[in-house]
Amino acid sequence: MAPAIEAVLARLEERSAREQPELERLNGVGAAATRAAAPGLMLDVGPQVGRLLNALVRITDAKFVLEVGGSVGYSTVWLAEALTHTGGHALSLEPEPDKAVQLGNNLAAAGLGDHVDVLVEDAGAVIPRLAGPFDVVLIDHWKDLYVREFDAAWPKLREGGVIVADNICRPTATADLMQEYVEHVRNAPGAYSFTLDIGNGVELTWRTNTEEA
Ligand SMILES: C[S@@+](CC[C@H](N)C(=O)[O-])C[C@H]1O[C@@H](n2cnc3c(N)ncnc32)[C@H](O)[C@@H]1O
Repeated sequence: MAPAIEAVLARLEERSAREQPELERLNGVGAAATRAAAPGLMLDVGPQVGRLLNALVRITDAKFVLEVGGSVGYSTVWLAEALTHTGGHALSLEPEPDKAVQLGNNLAAAGLGDHVDVLVEDAGAVIPRLAGPFDVVLIDHWKDLYVREFDAAWPKLREGGVIVADNICRPTATADLMQEYVEHVRNAPGAYSFTLDIGNGVELTWRTNTEEA
């Protein structure tokens, strides 16, 4: 991995570690408290899921990646690094303007700016107007919106593509919403879906057969 990319990831991991005590306190209060404080927090997927995302982009030889919830770019950097190997491109959606600026700056510092477009918009407005096909989609924003984003992205996912949803196992404050999401995606036509308990827990939903979808 290029030294500039490693340096950005290391800096963001240090920031994330500093934010953990406050994040744990907020998660103890409830999902609304975490959401209210979100503009100032990374809320990143963590290094294990970052590596998984990187591997999935490479394994699928992804040409078009969609990220829903870019924050300041931790997961984006992992996705974009893999895109330097596949020759693909990502679109990252982050509606908080200040976070979107940090996201752009972090990508530039990592030398990955050419691989990602950042849109400061709500995914609910953007995904319906995208043609796709998507190879890899990361859903990592407000938990009550996961099903909406999945339903908009699924028909545009190519066969063999995968949708990754974060925070399936943690924090427990959103467990009911995540259970609803998991049940929903496992019933999608042509889906092969399972939970991997790394980081905060991810649901991987593969599109196995577009004929049935
Ligand atoms: C959990 S954080 C994303 C963390 C990021 N994936 C990472 O690993 O570094 C969720 C982000 O989703 C953004 N968000 C909230 N509502 C959104 C929406 N409707 N569309 C896209 N992003 C949204 C928030 O502003 C927040 O920065």
